[in-house]
Amino acid sequence: SPVLGSAPRQLGFASVTMQAQDSVTVPAGYRAQVLYRWGDATGLTTGQPSFHADASNTAAEQAQQAGMHHDGMAYFPLDGAQRGLLALNHEYVDDGLLHSDGMQTWSAEKVHKSMAAHGVSVIEVRAGAQGWEVVRPSRFARRITASTPMTLSGPAAGHPLLQTAADPSGRHVLGTFNNCAHGQTPWGTYLTCEENFVNYFEGPAQPDAHQQRWGLKKGGSFYRWHEFEPRFDARQHPNEFNRFGWVVEIDPLDPTHTPIKRTALGRAAHEGATVAQTADGRVVVYMGEDARFEYLYKFVSRDAVRPGGAAANRDLLDHGTLYVARFNPDGSGDWLPLVHGQGPLTAANGFDSQGTVLIKTRQASDLLGATKMDRPEWTAVDPLTQTVYCTLTNNSLRGQPGQPGVDAANPRANNTMGQIIRWREQGDLAAQRFRWDHLMLAGDRQLSRNEAQGNIQGDVFGSPDGLWVDPRGVLWIQTDVSTFTLGKGDYAHLPNNQMLACNPETGEVRRFLVGPNGCEVTGICTTPDLRAMFINIQHPGEPTSERSDPAQPLKVSRWPDGQGRPRSATVVITKTDGGVIGT
Ligand code: FEO
Ligand code: CA
Ligand code: CA
Ligand code: CA
Repeated sequence: SPVLGSAPRQLGFASVTMQAQDSVTVPAGYRAQVLYRWGDATGLTTGQPSFHADASNTAAEQAQQAGMHHDGMAYFPLDGAQRGLLALNHEYVDDGLLHSDGMQTWSAEKVHKSMAAHGVSVIEVRAGAQGWEVVRPSRFARRITASTPMTLSGPAAGHPLLQTAADPSGRHVLGTFNNCAHGQTPWGTYLTCEENFVNYFEGPAQPDAHQQRWGLKKGGSFYRWHEFEPRFDARQHPNEFNRFGWVVEIDPLDPTHTPIKRTALGRAAHEGATVAQTADGRVVVYMGEDARFEYLYKFVSRDAVRPGGAAANRDLLDHGTLYVARFNPDGSGDWLPLVHGQGPLTAANGFDSQGTVLIKTRQASDLLGATKMDRPEWTAVDPLTQTVYCTLTNNSLRGQPGQPGVDAANPRANNTMGQIIRWREQGDLAAQRFRWDHLMLAGDRQLSRNEAQGNIQGDVFGSPDGLWVDPRGVLWIQTDVSTFTLGKGDYAHLPNNQMLACNPETGEVRRFLVGPNGCEVTGICTTPDLRAMFINIQHPGEPTSERSDPAQPLKVSRWPDGQGRPRSATVVITKTDGGVIGT
């Protein structure tokens, strides 16, 4: 792709000071404007219900409004850099904020409002005279929620482990949730990833081996949906649980399109699904599984992308090979095929079909001896060099008694700060061998604890999560330090989450943005000309104590309205001189 603006990778802005302010701070010469907050109208219809500051909107109203906890996001041009669609995830909810009285009472209406505040928004946005705005109404506007009908496709569709009383076919699912990061295909569709789906299911007192491997347990339903929606009670409906943890494909240009869960990409607590292309036009999809000691995956499609957009590539993600990564101590790496019948993935070991391998991806990866990583979050592919990067956000359990010890790729015990690993495929992106090293170990050089100091050149950070290399070759890093940790311990000098820009060739890191109190900074995309950048501020004011109490978040943040409940929101950043972001 053409390198936009000034010199490739050059960072031209003045670094922002780390600070605890209840605002979005950007460098001098930049402007940050709130675009799309929780509860805002999507543009689905004219006369949509307005947001009620006391959170008294009904479940039916919430289903027409922006969801909560914005996360991964992509821009789809309609009119180049002037008008386009944003598809964005609403990862989860804070029930204390979502309902007027928090969780003081519990009801079917509250469960349905929570389900309606999850999922994905598709909104139309355009550059107007006063800056960027949401187009209302828009024929593209859409809310996808935890109740939206979807299909399962690929090798696991119809598998006995995906069949339920409500769907004996094992091919029709209602909804998607805990949509964390995302992907964008060359044929113009959006991929949304189901991350911590286990927290929505109530498990049995004595989970079986499969349920245990995926963390299903009694008392595990953090969101309490099962109390009014029995499909989330795994004691009654054990297979509903297997119908989540997938990568879901959505066609943002067609509001009538039924979202498709692509089982060929495997089941995992998927963080994201970053798409790139091989020299012969196939796609590779890099996927982290954000959980302690879980894995990093790559899918390679069988077929090349065809011209003709989404309609010409409807089945492309149903055929291909899934691999899991092994990082060897000598700096080499192997992509191990998750293919039924190859190596130990046989019926004798409990893998009777490719469908079973894909539903039990974790167990299959265990058998193959893949590397247990420090919570793989986003992946990014450098368009200039095809170097691939992955954020390993943190893992304080690494090296603790009874837990895996350090290894070459995950080199620090009690890893509170995280690292960014990178690799070059040996040949094409479809290669099965790679060479890897660390771009950097995150940390704060002022700290006395040796293992938390890291080796960052420039502005310090920890817990990297969001990651993207823009068309100019600048690596953008977003942080998700837990609100339990911000400003404390190893994060004593880092009270708020932030976004930084890195020149990956020199290693220089410069702080570009600091978020409001108690938020995570996530979701990043730009217009094709790199003159408007969209980011998401997730869970401003996130409470560190009792999430069910609506008063707690208000003590931390009133962003963005300056009054009332804090609201997750999409923010658009422009340069006041109209220039390229980052220069
Ligand atoms: Fe939803 Fe791994 O962050
Ligand atoms: Ca994340
Ligand atoms: Ca995270
Ligand atoms: Ca978060």
